[in-house]
Amino acid sequence: MSTVTVALRAGEAADLAALAALEHACFGADAWDTGSLRAELTGPGRQLRVATDDAGSMVGYADVLVAGDVADLLRIATDPSARRTGVATALLGDAVAHARAAGADRMLLEVSDANAGAVAFYTARGFTPIDVRPRYYRDGSAALVLRRDLALPGGTQ
Ligand SMILES: CC(C)(COP(=O)(O)OP(=O)(O)OC[C@H]1O[C@@H](n2cnc3c(N)ncnc32)[C@H](O)[C@@H]1OP(=O)(O)O)[C@@H](O)C(=O)NCCC(=O)NCCS
Repeated sequence: MSTVTVALRAGEAADLAALAALEHACFGADAWDTGSLRAELTGPGRQLRVATDDAGSMVGYADVLVAGDVADLLRIATDPSARRTGVATALLGDAVAHARAAGADRMLLEVSDANAGAVAFYTARGFTPIDVRPRYYRDGSAALVLRRDLALPGGTQ
């Protein structure tokens, strides 16, 4: 993987159009619309952070919800043109650091079992399957529920 430097910052209302475009590119029929994204920007317990390249263009984002000692990684996505350059790794490290600081001791997420790239990404970063939800997604694929223990050592990635 050739890593690029990205800057991370809080998402804001001015990002909604770019976020919606990224959602569409990454999740197709399951993409969140602008209203859903706006709710994520302001919802209780949420942290939505965007990654930008040298030119200031959005290349990825992550959305995490911390409630008590559980962090739910609701979204992580990298623009197709910037994949496998470390963008999601940087966003995940940032989300993990935030979740730990907010008191979470574990991070959970759901991912389609048909999404081999994402499953490989999470597995390489310490997530393990704890459950399966059959026929969870619109395309009929199952959701794998993955968990990472935030109390374990393993850096911020
Ligand atoms: C999954 C996703 C977020 C990874 O983002 P990324 O910025 O490319 O990830 P990084 O560059 O930080 O990490 C890449 C590492 O993850 C793993 N990985 C990522 N995509 C992979 C793929 N298609 N096949 C195998 N491994 C993959 C590898 O370990 C890879 O390291 P390598 O390039 O050295 O082999 C990105 O592919 C994406 O946005 N997919 C669509 C949205 C999505 O599925 N989100 C997750 C579900 S919510």
